Amino acid sequence: MDKPIGIFDSGVGGLTVLDHLKMILPHENMIYIGDNIHCPYGEKTKEQLLKYTREICDFFISQNVKMIVLACNTTSANVLNELQQFYPQIPIVGVINSTVHDFLSRHLKRVLVIATHATIQSHKYKEIIHHYDQSIQVYELATPKLVPLVESGQYKEGIEDILKDYLKPYIHQVDSLILGCTHYPIILDQMKNVFYDKDYISSSEAICEEVSSYLLVHHLHCQSEQMGSIQIYTTGNPQEFRYSSEGFFDYQNLEIQYLDFKSEIL
Ligand code: DGL
Repeated sequence: MDKPIGIFDSGVGGLTVLDHLKMILPHENMIYIGDNIHCPYGEKTKEQLLKYTREICDFFISQNVKMIVLACNTTSANVLNELQQFYPQIPIVGVINSTVHDFLSRHLKRVLVIATHATIQSHKYKEIIHHYDQSIQVYELATPKLVPLVESGQYKEGIEDILKDYLKPYIHQVDSLILGCTHYPIILDQMKNVFYDKDYISSSEAICEEVSSYLLVHHLHCQSEQMGSIQIYTTGNPQEFRYSSEGFFDYQNLEIQYLDFKSEIL
């Protein structure tokens, strides 16, 4: 029960998931990996995504984790089933199902899903929403410029013009927006300035309830009264990782450690 939870993304985006998890499960130990050397995942093939994520899962298993959270829509859309089959001994959850359930609970009718190329090309959101309700109008839009703008820290200077270009064509079409990438909550306030009066559904929040109830139902939650420990790793440059994330993630005394997977980059 005191074993850590492993959480990963291609970079700083999954910290938006870690942030919520810390809040609702303060006693849990957690290990986070940002696989920055392979970022952006949204431009990678399924074969590449499988290779990277298997390496990450192997690392988590060597660290004795009790659960793995894909804090990433791109891998949740493309390789979740494969990872669950490779590692049947460990619960692995992705972000998409819980985000769709959050969306459906709000009874909205016309939604725009924004996400990476690889997530949009999988049509996972549309498929799952229509599995439950065919009458919902689902628009899908790849927004590949956004992850690099977040990872480089350029989002701090304001990227509303780019957001306007992406979102304006849909302003009268939809009542809601699914942030189908865990990097996007970081620029939520800027989005709200250009795409107002919408319901926003964030894949970073929805997954946390699922993790929490899974641990409870399976009696896996940590019993300790102490605050959980958090270890953060990046396969990229720790200084750059800190620069792009310190505007929204509160590190307190946490260090960012470099993780060298020594894998050939496909
Ligand atoms: N944050 C990830 C997602 O939710 C990955 C984005 C990327 O690396 O392209 O899809």
